[in-house]
Parts: sequence; C-alpha cells; structure tokens
Amino acid sequence: MGVGRKKCAVVGIGNRAHSWISGIVQQHPESTVLAGLCDLRLDRCHDVNEVYKTNAAVYDNYELMLSDLKPDLVIIASPDRCHREHIVKALDAGCNVATEKPLCTTIEDAAAIVEAEQRSRKKIFMAFNYRHIPLCSKIKELILGDAIGRPVSMDLSWYLDYHGHGASYFRRWHRLMRESGGLLVTKASHHFDLANWWMGDAPSTVFARGGRNFFGAGNNPCQGERCSTCTHSEKCEWFTDVCINDRTEELSRQLGYRVKGVRGYIRDYCPFGNDVDIYDTMAVQVSYRNGGILNYSLNASVPFEGWNLAINGTKGRLESKITDNKPSPGWQERFQITDPDGKILKGKGFGITDWPSEYSIHVMPHKEDDYELKLPNIADGHGGGDFKIFDAALADIYPPKDTLDIFASAVSGALSTAIGAGANTSILSGEPFSLNKWTSKWQCKEA
Ligand SMILES: NC(=O)c1ccc[n+]([C@@H]2O[C@H](COP(=O)([O-])OP(=O)(O)OC[C@H]3O[C@@H](n4cnc5c(N)ncnc54)[C@H](O)[C@@H]3O)[C@@H](O)[C@H]2O)c1
Repeated sequence: MGVGRKKCAVVGIGNRAHSWISGIVQQHPESTVLAGLCDLRLDRCHDVNEVYKTNAAVYDNYELMLSDLKPDLVIIASPDRCHREHIVKALDAGCNVATEKPLCTTIEDAAAIVEAEQRSRKKIFMAFNYRHIPLCSKIKELILGDAIGRPVSMDLSWYLDYHGHGASYFRRWHRLMRESGGLLVTKASHHFDLANWWMGDAPSTVFARGGRNFFGAGNNPCQGERCSTCTHSEKCEWFTDVCINDRTEELSRQLGYRVKGVRGYIRDYCPFGNDVDIYDTMAVQVSYRNGGILNYSLNASVPFEGWNLAINGTKGRLESKITDNKPSPGWQERFQITDPDGKILKGKGFGITDWPSEYSIHVMPHKEDDYELKLPNIADGHGGGDFKIFDAALADIYPPKDTLDIFASAVSGALSTAIGAGANTSILSGEPFSLNKWTSKWQCKEA
C-alpha cells in the first residue's frame, strides 16, 4: 500500500459504487487506495476485486470493516435508508465520509447526522454532483455576478421519461417510501440542493401535493410481482426481460470494461405492484427565510427527460430548458425489442437523436438587452459532475478559488432532505410543514 495514499473503504457495492471505485482505481491511483469493500452480498465485493484487479479486503460486517481497516475515507453508496447508520458509524469510528445523495431519508436522520459530524470533528463530503454540471455552475455564477439581482422566485419542473429512467424507480428498491423517501427525497434531493444553492438561502416552510396517477396499483391492466415470474409477460407493454439484461451485464463484466450491472440486483419488480407507495406526480412550494419562493414539480410519466427552469430576481430573469431526447446509453436497448432491421417490435422507444452538445441559458436583465449563453453538455459522469467530486473527495483537488462555494456540506444535504421529507409529511397531512424547528439549529452556508 503506497505511503501517504488515502485509505478508502466503500459500503454498498451496487451500481453507483462502481463510479466511485473507478474514481479510486482509474482516476486517482496515486492518491488513493481501495482498502475495503462492504456489502451484504460478498459476491458483489469479489466482482470488484476481479474486474478492477484490486486486492481490497471484503466484508459483510460494516463495523468490522471500520475497526479492522480504520479507513481515512468511507464512501457511502448503500441504499438511502442505510445512510444514517453508515455515516454516523463511520464518523464515530474517526473516519471522514463521502456520501451519496440523498444524505438520508428523514429530517430526524438529517439532524442526527449533522450532530454526529460536529461531535466527531470529522468531515462529511456531500456528493452533490449536479452542482458541477457546467450549466448549473454558470447559473450560480450569474446570480453571484448580479445578472438578475437577488433571486425571489424560482419555477423548476423536472421530468422523468416514463418508460426508461422514470419507470426504473418503480422497478427497484426506490419504489418503497421506507427505502428511498420517494422521489421527493431520492431524486429531488439534487434539485432542492440546486434551488437552495442558487437561492443562497435556507428553506423555512414546505407545502406539497402528490399522487400516483401512472404507476402503482390500479394504473395498468396487467399487474404482477416481478416480470420474470409474471403471467402477463406476453401482453404487458411494461414487460422487461431481466435475463437479456443480465446477459448483457455479464458480458460487460467479463470484458472487464466496467461492471455495468450488479449480480442479483432485482430491478424487474412490477411498477404497478400493490406495494408501490411512492408518488409519480408531485408539486411542492417552498418558502425561504429571506422571502424567496420555489415552485417545484416532478413528474415520472413524461415522454422525455429534462427540466424547465426560470429564476426571477430583483433585476431580471433567467430561463433554461433541457430536453434530453435520448436516454442514457443502455436504456433504449433495455426496454425495447427490435427486429434485425432495427424496427421496434415492442416498447415505444425514444427519438434517437444525439444528446444535445450544448445547453443554453437565456438571461433577461431589466435594464439591458437579453442574451443567450451556451454551455457544453458533457455526456458522461452526470454532466461531468462526477469527475469533479471524485477529484475533490478522493484526491483533494479543489479549484484554486472556489468563488461559487460549489462543494456541498452535510448541512446542504440535510436541507435538501428536509425539503423532500417535509413535503412528504405535508402531502399526508394536507398542511404546510415548518422546517425551522430543525434547520434553525444548523449552521447554514445557504442562509
Ligand atoms: N449521485 C448520483 O447521481 C447517484 C446516482 C445513482 C445512485 N445514487 C445513490 O447511490 C446509492 C446507491 O444506489 P445504487 O443505485 O448503487 O443502489 P444499488 O441497490 O445498486 O446498490 C446498493 C448496494 O448496497 C447493498 N446494501 C444494502 N443494504 C446494505 C447494508 N446494510 N450494508 C451494506 N450493504 C448494503 C446492496 O446489497 C447493494 O449491493 C443510493 O443512495 C443512491 O441514491 C446517486
């Protein structure tokens, strides 16, 4: 083990862990070493050592991994419901933490994590990669540069494509509130963090509505438990053949390119199953301490993926619209069956266009001409954000001057979870939910 290299351990060796492991083994071999891997399924840990030619110690007991290895950095890539336990135990064992979003799934968990960070004097690196997408950081730069004055209201609508990415949340563990906190936590934590960061303020109250209009029980004539055991496979347009997927993944695993899939990962649950209890249609209104307002919506039954954003400030307005016609590589193949000539036999499919090479921001200052800014769309690693967070968390490579305050703290994670979890509470009660009781105790960079 090289002297001075950061000893890293990863918990939760599923899909996302492989991005971090590539970051360690391929992007930053000089400054990091992969010391430990922990998962309830040891075969997933062994896969990593085989594919990446590493020699990490493997564990199915997390506490034992912490006490044996005393890692410098523990990377949390377990399912959302485990984050609190894994983060707090790592901090209390004297380790720094880099955690995947969401920080956790409830406000109580967020408060416990913020408290544990203070108590341990260790640091949590909150891996909000979306902040580093060129379009998102440019919006922050424009706001700090006074291009539209102080932001006072924001409209942000987020769209998930119904057959690919959107449906995938209803096929995997995310489909249960207790596992993920629903899309308002597991997915929208990115979006609420962006809103808080752009607003430069902390949220104070949240009011929300939500429903299951497209997925979940009663929304499809065919219903089962899993596609692989379903009697409706011939006639259901949602049928996905997980065996085909597994073969594809096994091939990529053998090729050693990168483990695209995870052994034994169940991702063919029926999106219309009785147990689906997360929402597919959500609207949220957030009030901020200094008077700003966010109007947010998230919908998982849209024919494309993207967003519509408008920010109104005291000196102007900016708008941005992203439409990704083409889903991430692999989705197309996964959910469509084509004949040898490429004709789609099953599954609607998406317009096969290239990813847009750039995104734009339309800026409308009150007292100057409008102008348009073009930003590159980086097609890999979440718009390029992953590479930036791996540089910082793994190799301590930060920009010389971080004028944008671009690296998120545990409190940033706590605030975004607080909005999502507070919205879930508001949906159930029909009443606004005040976040102040919790957030006023947190040292907010955002406020
Ligand atoms: N930043 C991003 O853009 C991004 C993208 C994808 C996922 N994520 C986040 O990464 C995390 C992991 O997501 P994923 O898609 O890789 O999930 P996954 O289900 O593929 O992987 C989770 C792994 O954790 C293991 N696990 C479950 N309980 C455990 C426990 N108690 N102890 C140890 N291991 C346990 C599972 O066996 C599985 O291998 C989630 O929090 C998710 O929200 C973030």
